[in-house]
Amino acid sequence: MQKVALITGTGSGIGKALAKLLLSEKYLVFGYSRTNQIKHANFTFTKIDLSDLEEVQRIKFPKLKATTEVLLVNNAATIGSILPIDKKSEKEIIGEYNLNIISPTLLSRKFINAYADNIKLLINIGSGAANSPISSWSTYCATKSALDMLIQVIAEEKHKNLQVFSIHPGVVDTNMQKEIRKSDSEFFPLHQKFMDYYANQELFSVKSVVFRILQIIAKKNDFDEIILNLRDFK
Ligand SMILES: NC(=O)c1ccc[n+]([C@@H]2O[C@H](COP(=O)([O-])OP(=O)(O)OC[C@H]3O[C@@H](n4cnc5c(N)ncnc54)[C@H](OP(=O)(O)O)[C@@H]3O)[C@@H](O)[C@H]2O)c1
Repeated sequence: MQKVALITGTGSGIGKALAKLLLSEKYLVFGYSRTNQIKHANFTFTKIDLSDLEEVQRIKFPKLKATTEVLLVNNAATIGSILPIDKKSEKEIIGEYNLNIISPTLLSRKFINAYADNIKLLINIGSGAANSPISSWSTYCATKSALDMLIQVIAEEKHKNLQVFSIHPGVVDTNMQKEIRKSDSEFFPLHQKFMDYYANQELFSVKSVVFRILQIIAKKNDFDEIILNLRDFK
């Protein structure tokens, strides 16, 4: 049976690697981000700035037969400007909320409506930051916390043929970690901790993370929990 994956943030990091892994597993993959390096016959790219909500509302998901299994991965996000809230601009705050929480909320709604009868899996890429107040990460912590509540509410609503997960990947070697290491230690008290993760090679590789996400997709019926922390998966 044909499987289809819609993935946001396929320009780099986890989203790009997951798209490539699912293509190798014979999925048709639709990627949504600002940039693209993936070239594959079964990959369709939509160039979009997901912090622009008018663009997000205009997205048309592909028409699929009701027998197709379909997956949406809300992966795109930004750590945002790493500054105390009084030093962040209003424009930054709005853009970070738009990308990290409003856009995934709109896309989740669009997904459930577009594929009412299909067997559906909705995965949000969450973060441990949802549960830890981290100084200078106000929008990141708040949006990841909201994203976890959103998925739990969607689960409570018991939509037809829909299963949901929030996957917390741990600390992963991507551009996001580079941005964290580049931040100004004057405004980011945990700066040295993230420098140490890198120096001590404690970051997960993107490959290992997407492989574990694929395992979760394959064994989706084995889980009782909605929020899954990849550190718990060997
Ligand atoms: N790395 C970690 O340690 C870590 C830890 C916990 C959770 N996560 C989560 O993992 C997910 C992926 O992040 P990553 O680590 O892979 O970092 P990344 O390499 O920076 O990936 C971010 C992705 O989001 C896309 N994106 C960013 N801004 C966008 C915009 N305005 N419009 C459309 N797409 C946009 C980027 O593509 P374009 O630049 O092409 O638009 C890129 O594909 C995020 O949800 C992040 O919160 C990461």
